[in-house]
Amino acid sequence: METSVDEVVRFNKVSKAFGQVEILKGVSFSVRRGEVVALIGRSGSGKSTALRCINGLERVSGGELHTCGHAMHASAVDLAALRREVGIVFQSYNLFPHLTVAENVMLAPRKVRGMARKAAHELAMHVLRQVGMEERADYYPEQLSGGQQQRVAIARSLAMEPRLMLFDEVTSALDPELTGEVLRVIERLAADGMTMVLVTHEMAFARSVADQIMFMHQGIVWEAGSGKLLDEPTTPELRQFVGNGL
Ligand SMILES: Nc1ncnc2c1ncn2[C@@H]1O[C@H](COP(=O)(O)OP(=O)(O)OP(=O)(O)O)[C@@H](O)[C@H]1O
Ligand SMILES: [Mg+2]
Repeated sequence: METSVDEVVRFNKVSKAFGQVEILKGVSFSVRRGEVVALIGRSGSGKSTALRCINGLERVSGGELHTCGHAMHASAVDLAALRREVGIVFQSYNLFPHLTVAENVMLAPRKVRGMARKAAHELAMHVLRQVGMEERADYYPEQLSGGQQQRVAIARSLAMEPRLMLFDEVTSALDPELTGEVLRVIERLAADGMTMVLVTHEMAFARSVADQIMFMHQGIVWEAGSGKLLDEPTTPELRQFVGNGL
């Protein structure tokens, strides 16, 4: 089956094992263009694994997974092409310390997309403006707060002009104030129509920004729905998770 043009990601009974241990046991959900999907669940429930399958950092063991039209379960996947379309941001920002903010952001457009220096710089300033960091373009990473570095890391992904952005607990290393400024950047991206899948422990944020919430438990999507899901969980497992998580 082909994915519809509107579907950016589609999991169809996806499984993933590490050795003998099956972590994903038949995950099914789709992400439509412009949609924000939040993956929540207990530590070890497979949220990061599912996210990493989307851009091929992990290979699925069974089922079908389509990302931006690429069949990720197929034997040959054009990972280089895929990664130009899918950005990912992790908890750690890993900016190059010896490069300025602008140079960090320009790197991939220059090297991967072969852009000229001037065009890459203009693009860098554009995406830095999107994350509110254009005034720090000439700073070095060590001169920035954790939240500012994370916003630069988001800008660096945006500079590839991705069709899909993946976020894995991008605020877990930040204190509450810095967390807020990063979450506002993500909210703005959502409002601008970016398609996103995000793993988060910030339940209030998930409720407000996500079109769909996927509660992962025992290797499957245990319960799914809109933000209301968190106020009115159906399963005892989600009720317990929300009770502990808020
Ligand atoms: N490369 C790997 N090799 C072996 N086991 C792995 C590997 N990556 C993840 N796992 C296991 O898969 C399970 C799910 O891990 P995953 O990182 O997806 O969980 P998570 O839901 O993101 O948890 P957390 O909220 O703590 O980040 C864990 O039991 C983990 O130990
Ligand atoms: Mg994780």
